[in-house]
Amino acid sequence: MSERTIALVTGANKGIGYEIAASLGALGWSVGVGARDDQRRRAAVEKLRAAGVDAFGVPLDVTDDAGVTAAAQLIEDRAGRLDVLVNNAAITGGMPQEPTRVDPAIIRTVVETNVIGVIRVTNAMLPLLRRSASPRIVNMSSSVGSLTRQSATVGEQSIGPVAVAYAPSKTFLNAVTLQYVRELSGTNILINAACPGYVATDLNGFRGVRTPEQGAAIAVKLATLPDDGPTGRFFEDAGPVPW
Ligand SMILES: NC(=O)c1ccc[n+]([C@@H]2O[C@H](COP(=O)([O-])OP(=O)(O)OC[C@H]3O[C@@H](n4cnc5c(N)ncnc54)[C@H](OP(=O)(O)O)[C@@H]3O)[C@@H](O)[C@H]2O)c1
Repeated sequence: MSERTIALVTGANKGIGYEIAASLGALGWSVGVGARDDQRRRAAVEKLRAAGVDAFGVPLDVTDDAGVTAAAQLIEDRAGRLDVLVNNAAITGGMPQEPTRVDPAIIRTVVETNVIGVIRVTNAMLPLLRRSASPRIVNMSSSVGSLTRQSATVGEQSIGPVAVAYAPSKTFLNAVTLQYVRELSGTNILINAACPGYVATDLNGFRGVRTPEQGAAIAVKLATLPDDGPTGRFFEDAGPVPW
């Protein structure tokens, strides 16, 4: 088994996921670059390797059962275990997403990726995580999924646009995160949700105000928690986010 800490980041070919991979790699970790497109994955792995990161490509579409199983097998063959899983891949489903006009198919697609995708990947990787001395799971959520913030800012733009697929998918993900925490309490697996802030990426047409490096920081913090660190919490850079 590898001496290095082994991490897998989903959706690591660009945006915040790429920067999480770069930051974890800069710690000397071996980083699996989970990405669904062969060319984009190869380009990201090459760029990370050129920067000195021990990066390896993991073909991974989070909506594909067989592909996710194969990804777990690839990590098992390469490293024999997994220390850190960052569930970062997500889609918005496109805007606008007014509840009164939405095509239900969009909601299904978004939930399939942002929620069921996380469950699918987590369950496939769990046997490998259980072999780690200090396993961590970081679920990339968003403060737009905070019901507390949503209800406190009705009519304001500060919590993002009305988005009946994307925002509730993150609320759903937060709830799912807590279900894992409950089932896995008593194990050494620390599981937390993160909000990167409003980051300029493809996801929002680069309208965000933070850099992907800044957005990656909270995930890196939660990926590197000490053994007595928190679990079952939701954090942004400034501290806890209300559910
Ligand atoms: N940007 C923000 O302001 C913001 C705010 C709050 C939360 N977040 C969250 O931060 C995370 C990263 O977002 P980002 O802004 O970096 O977005 P991004 O630049 O659009 O990157 C999203 C990543 O997810 C991948 N992905 C999408 N569907 C996938 C699938 N089915 N299987 C595997 N990979 C898939 C994309 O791959 P492709 O290149 O193949 O499409 C891409 O690598 C997301 O969870 C997002 O919800 C972002």
